[in-house]
Amino acid sequence: MPALDRTPETGAPETWRRIAETTARLGFDMPSEPRTGAFLKMLAAAKPGGRMLELGTGTGLATAWLLAGMDADARLTSVDVAPDLQAVARAELGDDPRVEFVIEDGLAFLQRQTPASYDLIFADAMPGKYEGLEDALARVRPGGIWIGDDMLLQGNWPDGHEARVAGLLQALQGREGWAVVEMAWASGLVVAVRRKL
Ligand SMILES: C[S@@+](CC[C@H](N)C(=O)[O-])C[C@H]1O[C@@H](n2cnc3c(N)ncnc32)[C@H](O)[C@@H]1O
Repeated sequence: MPALDRTPETGAPETWRRIAETTARLGFDMPSEPRTGAFLKMLAAAKPGGRMLELGTGTGLATAWLLAGMDADARLTSVDVAPDLQAVARAELGDDPRVEFVIEDGLAFLQRQTPASYDLIFADAMPGKYEGLEDALARVRPGGIWIGDDMLLQGNWPDGHEARVAGLLQALQGREGWAVVEMAWASGLVVAVRRKL
C-alpha cells in the first residue's frame, strides 16, 4: 500500500520556511498548518490570473503557500487587524508584486468589495466565516472557491465555539448554487465552490 501521508512541507516555498521559523520564535499560536498550505497552493494553481483574498494574514504562512501556487498574472490581497503579525509577512513577501497587504477589519474590507469579484477566498479569521459569511460568499465568482479552516475540534477553542462551527457547517451543507465538501485534513477544512448556474 503506498504511503499517502507524505510530509506536506515537501512542496513548501523557501519563504514559508523562513516565516515558519519566525512564527515559532514569536510563539504565534494560530498558524495555518502545512497541509492547509499545500492544499491552498494547489487551489491557487487552478486559478491562473485569478483574484485571491486571505482574511487573517497572521504571519503570512498561508500567504506564502498561496503565492507559491499562483501564476504571474494572479493577485492576492491579505487582510489582518494585527500590524505586528502582518509585519512578518510583509518583510518576507512584500516585494512580490502579486500581493497586497491590508490592515483593516476583515468584515469592513469584505463589505467594500464588489460582488462576485474573487476566484478564491481563504477565510482564516472570524470575518468571512463566522461573521459576514454571506458577505464573503457573495464575493465569490461562479467557479470560485471559498475555504474555511479549523473545523476540527481544538483544545484552545473558547466556550461556545463548537456551536459556531456546527452552525457554519449547517449553513453550508446542501446550499443551493454551491458544491460543498468537508475535509478531515489538517485542522479540518470546508471548501465550497460557487456553481455557474
Ligand atoms: C488563524 S490566524 C491566521 C493564520 C494565518 N492565515 C496563517 O497562515 O498562519 C487569524 C488571524 O486573524 C486576525 N484577525 C482577528 N480578527 C480579525 C478581524 N476582525 N479582521 C481581520 N483579521 C482578524 C488575527 O490577527 C490573526 O492573525
